Amino acid sequence: MSDGSSFYITTPIFYVNDVPHIGHAYTEVAADVLARWHRQAGEDAWLLTGTDEHGQKILRTAIANGVTPKEWADRLVETAWKPLLQTVDIKNDDFIRTTDERHEVNAQKFLQHLYDAGHIYTGEYEGFYCVGCEEYKQPSDLIDGTGEFAGVQVCAIHSIPVELLHEKNYFFRMSTFADQLLALYEDNPDFVQPAAARNEVISFVKQGLSDLSISRSSFDWGIKVPWDDTHVVYVWFDALLNYITAAGYGHDDEKFSRLWPATHIVGKDILRFHAVIWPAMLLAAGIEVPRRVFGHGWLLVGGEKMSKSKLTGIAPSQITDTFGSDAFRYYFMRAISFGQDGSFSWEDLSARYQSELANGFGNLASRVIAMVVRYCDGEIPTPTVFSEDDDLIRATEKRATDAAGEAISRLAIHEAIAAIWELVDELNGYITSQEPWALAKDPANRARLEAVLFTAVRGLGTLAVLLSPIVPQATGKLWQALGGSGELTDVRIDQAWQWTGGTHVSPLEALFPRIEATVG
Ligand code: MSP
Repeated sequence: MSDGSSFYITTPIFYVNDVPHIGHAYTEVAADVLARWHRQAGEDAWLLTGTDEHGQKILRTAIANGVTPKEWADRLVETAWKPLLQTVDIKNDDFIRTTDERHEVNAQKFLQHLYDAGHIYTGEYEGFYCVGCEEYKQPSDLIDGTGEFAGVQVCAIHSIPVELLHEKNYFFRMSTFADQLLALYEDNPDFVQPAAARNEVISFVKQGLSDLSISRSSFDWGIKVPWDDTHVVYVWFDALLNYITAAGYGHDDEKFSRLWPATHIVGKDILRFHAVIWPAMLLAAGIEVPRRVFGHGWLLVGGEKMSKSKLTGIAPSQITDTFGSDAFRYYFMRAISFGQDGSFSWEDLSARYQSELANGFGNLASRVIAMVVRYCDGEIPTPTVFSEDDDLIRATEKRATDAAGEAISRLAIHEAIAAIWELVDELNGYITSQEPWALAKDPANRARLEAVLFTAVRGLGTLAVLLSPIVPQATGKLWQALGGSGELTDVRIDQAWQWTGGTHVSPLEALFPRIEATVG
């Protein structure tokens, strides 16, 4: 079905009941870094993001604010969710809303197809529902409430009471797919990542799957069930379909076969929806399952999952207003092992900004360019004789290029940055030990000075290419200052160390200026 030629990557689609916090921006940035990387490796990369607009959670928020759910969703999409993409510099190829006609119509087609094929039946269900998660909970998912909810059972994720619901609904025969899912995890060990998440999913499915209630009749904010308009589609069933409706399912076969299957980046709290329910839906419809599902960890504040409902939410702009979007992107991708939880602190952010971005990378760039201006009138030298030290830098450029690419293929973004940073550190050490300012004092050392400056410029260019998906603004400026040819984003990242460039440098402003104010 698929020609498998593209790298199609998705973020979860975000609930529009509230504005984004840095946990949401984290998911966006990770997916964007991977998309930019693959795009720059010459692949047909496609990044999808968007918003999840149906269901009780949004309906209740809209009612509480005295507007219709559509008005509420429109307001939040335009004033908060689309602006987030600018705030953290996301280069998405599409933005889907579950209220888009292209989604609603084709989600209905999918549902009708499952119904016609006998995968859906009418049944009754009683259970505890968490509106925060938009999910029926098992008793093991509940904990004792504290404070105002002392004495009642609450959702372990949202710390809010669950509601006992009894409904007559349509059900998807998910239980019949347990064996196929287990075979999928077995045959395709990379399907769910990281390994701990995979093990958890496997043991969950091994306990046996229940059928899934996929419609609601107690409210009407949703996509109508095509054969029964007294029901709307369960919000998760609706939302998961965004990944295929945006890719052309049901309306653009050519696009769909080019893009699908996708790599899904999601938070670990919603891994089961993506690694169990979603592939079961696709198996039922005879559509290829996703390429892989990666569950990243949570950003913790004060040891807890950061969230607006617990009042620990930090708006992304609180960080970018002071440090800029590059620093936001770099910090979260570097400081947290992708796939694990990570604690956010202003101190750590400030410290890394200063030592790694401003001193490590930014100063290196400014110093090298300033020396080419000062000692060579801005002309990049063209030496012919190189020392062993120069060759070592070249070797590190190649090693960093290969190691970073290999890490990205495993979605290990933090390892890719660490591999690139070896080049930053080695170049700094090289400048210190070669002392070009001392060489410049004696014309007899001219050839050596030129070899050192040339080597440093080459190393910087390699850094610009390799770091472009992570810190696009700073590397764009550096590329210009180095006189690199063409657009930086067109330079092949998998051959970064072989970049070709100009003949002259031009002055470079501080890439990561000193932050004067105290933050926090
Ligand atoms: N609408 C669903 C997703 C549907 S996808 C078909 C949803 N939305 S959400 O807005 O609540 O969350 C979106 C993403 O943000 C999830 O991947 C979630 O894990 C992530 N995060 C929310 N809080 C987070 C942290 N504190 N840390 C890291 N990621 C966090 O779920």
